[in-house]
Order: sequence, then C-alpha cells, then structure tokens
Amino acid sequence: MLKKDIDIYWFSGTGNTYLITNELKEELEKFNIKVNLFKIEKSNPKNIDTDKIIGLAFPVAVQATYPLVWNFIDRLPNLESKNTKIFMIDTLAGFSGGVVGPLKNILSKKGYECIGAKEFIMPSNYSKPKEEEVNRKKVEKSLKKAKDFAKDLVEEKSNWGRVPGVSDVVKYINNRQFIWNSIQKTVSINNDKCIKCGLCAKLCPTNSIRFNKGEYPIKVDGCESCMRCIAFCPQNAILLNKKETTQYKAVNLELFLK
Ligand SMILES: Cc1cc2nc3c(=O)[nH]c(=O)nc-3n(C[C@H](O)[C@H](O)[C@H](O)COP(=O)(O)O)c2cc1C
Repeated sequence: MLKKDIDIYWFSGTGNTYLITNELKEELEKFNIKVNLFKIEKSNPKNIDTDKIIGLAFPVAVQATYPLVWNFIDRLPNLESKNTKIFMIDTLAGFSGGVVGPLKNILSKKGYECIGAKEFIMPSNYSKPKEEEVNRKKVEKSLKKAKDFAKDLVEEKSNWGRVPGVSDVVKYINNRQFIWNSIQKTVSINNDKCIKCGLCAKLCPTNSIRFNKGEYPIKVDGCESCMRCIAFCPQNAILLNKKETTQYKAVNLELFLK
C-alpha cells in the first residue's frame, strides 16, 4: 500500500485537467493520503520535495503537451541515491500521440521511479464544442476513471506503459519551435469588443499579454494557445483563428485567480 504524502504539480488551460486532478486528490485522501496541489506555472521544479510522491498533471497539446509543462519537467532535479516515486495524468480530446512514453524516458533518466500513467478523454477546449450532453458523459466517465486510478495507485497496481517508437517521434515534432510560433498566432484580441478589463493578462500562464490600465491589451511572444484567455474573457473578445469561438471552460474563473 502506498503510504507517503503526494504533491501533484498541475497545469490546466481551461479546467479539464484540474477537474481530474482534484477528483484524484479527493479519492486518494479517502485512503488517508495527504495530497497537496501546486500550479506548475507558479512552481519552481528545483524546489520540489523529493521525499514525497510526485504527481504531474497536464493537458495534451499538439500530440504531447505545452512547452511550459516540458520546461517544468526538464528542470526537475536529477536524483542521486533517492528513488522518488512519480506518476502522471493527462487529459485530451482524443489522441495524445503517446506522450507517456517520452515522459517516462525523461523521468527514468533523472532517477525517478515511474509508478503510473493514465490518460483521460475530456471535452475538447479547442475545436467546436460538442453538445453539452456528450461533454457531460465524457467528464463523468473520466471522473470515474480517476477514482479507479487513485485506488490502483494506492494498491500499487498502476502501471506506466508506453507506445513504442511512435511516441519519440511525436515528442520530436511537438518540440519544434516553428509549430509553437504558428500556434501562438491563432490567438488574437478583438479591440472592437474589448473593454480593457485586463483579465486576459492576469490569467495568461506565460505572461504573453501586456496590459496597461486604460489601454487595450497587447499580445507579445510566448503564447502557447492554452485557451484560458479565450475561455474567460467576459466579452468573448479573444479570437481563435481570427474568429469568435464558443467559450469552453470546466471550472470557475476563481481557480485561476487564486
Ligand atoms: C492548442 C491545443 C492543442 C491540443 N492538442 C490536442 C491533441 O493533440 N490531442 C488531443 O487529443 N487533444 C488536444 N487538445 C485538447 C485538449 O488536450 C483537451 O481539451 C484538454 O482536456 C484540455 O485541458 P485543460 O482544460 O486542462 O486545459 C488540444 C487543445 C489545445 C488548446
């Protein structure tokens, strides 16, 4: 039986990953395991407590995950003698490209013991949202899966598989800067609708929106198109591919303002 406390480092653009992470936490705590949640965007990977079990939680993006998540993972400390246990969860709309494989390689090389990986299908926060009922069923199924994963972790029955071959290619492609350069251009601000509230700048996990009171916000380099600004803009004034889009969010705004 797993006994140690767990620290989960999570990133979520629009809340799907948080929902699953929080369900996992609540379920693990039923087994008397204390679970702390930390935002990846606010955490320094060098300061993680390697006496704890570590969890990583993130959305799939471009068949792997966001550069900000890779950046956190790449800077996790190398372990010398210790064998810290680590697990991962990701949420995705349909196909992850096998991100679990390259992640396992990286973490194993750093000396972590990879104890479990699970992927959770959730509503897409990128393409046109499906009907509410379809989305609700996906969420329900994944919340149940999170409960089962918690039990597997505690009973030390979880595993971390990998898709041989494919996944390393996917990580290579996902890593290309030109891909992210073009992706960041898909998000833009519609000044005709903007009320200069500055919320988008406050929410942006990569500080890619500059805002001065009384002025329109300006997008600068570094956006990873996580959809958070689009999801929560009170005016729906942030465009995807130059068009207004249906706002998708799985949680309340407050989670990201804390
Ligand atoms: C820029 C971007 C790229 C995405 N790429 C993929 C992908 O390659 N495969 C996939 O299944 N879902 C993809 N998705 C969908 C998200 O992974 C999915 O909706 C996820 O649950 C969102 O989690 P979050 O709400 O925690 O940000 C992508 C979403 C965005 C915004």
